[in-house]
Amino acid sequence: MPGLTKLASTIKNQGARAILQIFDAGRMSTPEALNGKQAVSASAVAAQHGNGKAKSAVPREMTVDDIHATIAAFGEATRRAIQAGFDGVELHGANLYLIQQFFSPHSNRRTDEYGGSREKRYTFIKELLASVFAAVDQYADRPFLVGYRFSPEEFTEPGITLDDTFYLVDQLAETRLDYLHVSLSNYDRKSRSTEYQDKSILAYLHDYLAGRKPLIGVGGVRNRQDVTGLLQNAEFAAVGQQLLVDPTWVQKLETGHDADMVTADFVDAIEYTHFNRPLYNFLVARYASEPNF
Ligand SMILES: Cc1cc2nc3c(=O)[nH]c(=O)nc-3n(C[C@H](O)[C@H](O)[C@H](O)COP(=O)(O)O)c2cc1C
Repeated sequence: MPGLTKLASTIKNQGARAILQIFDAGRMSTPEALNGKQAVSASAVAAQHGNGKAKSAVPREMTVDDIHATIAAFGEATRRAIQAGFDGVELHGANLYLIQQFFSPHSNRRTDEYGGSREKRYTFIKELLASVFAAVDQYADRPFLVGYRFSPEEFTEPGITLDDTFYLVDQLAETRLDYLHVSLSNYDRKSRSTEYQDKSILAYLHDYLAGRKPLIGVGGVRNRQDVTGLLQNAEFAAVGQQLLVDPTWVQKLETGHDADMVTADFVDAIEYTHFNRPLYNFLVARYASEPNF
């Protein structure tokens, strides 16, 4: 709590809103990260990485008690975010982690109420949202945002398709969520499905949502033109790597100092930025392999 409280106040002290992303890695975790314990997931199916490289170990299938405990833990994480002074939480339903693993037909082969049809694969998410909103109702004495991030497609067979994602979006649009956030490596990326080639995934989603929830888009934003392009199909633009290598990028955008924006490839730009070692090593490893998000 002291660390989280300091983080929230540091983010907020120049006027930004602080939203804490909460997640469980599920089968994307490793025994090294879990003090030797086996990772868990919806089913005992190992992850298959997009780059075809080393598969993760086979996880243990969660029992219904495990599922209830995890759902309760997300509620507790929400309580901590409220008490630490954050303005909201974002549920990380993207990038192949546990929440996505319950919705994916690749990682979820269950035959109980948590698996099978699309509807049943949504059960975990439905119960998770109920737990998070119960914590908001019980503990928040100020407006407190809840957002949801999802990945629109998976590269595996079976895997989440854009049609599955339209179903997910329909469900999420009916909830109290404040916004949706789609995870994309490039904001103008096209679908893998031959059915949806007329425009970008972001454009399909934004049109499909039709204003039911604000949408955050992301992926490869580096300059003003990217921001303008992205915002044609979203209410908000998220910026990741450019802010890591160019921490005052937003100020440059606001004050028209576009010429000072860092344009070097990220892999080169990390060499002259002042990262601490763990982040530097993480980024070097990331750029050495195929990006996962
Ligand atoms: C070092 C690093 C860490 C990331 N960590 C997360 C994360 O914890 N949660 C998440 O949803 N996305 C994470 N991402 C993905 C970004 O949110 C974003 O989707 C991706 O980097 C593409 O946007 P960008 O081109 O603006 O960086 C991470 C990306 C990088 C480079």
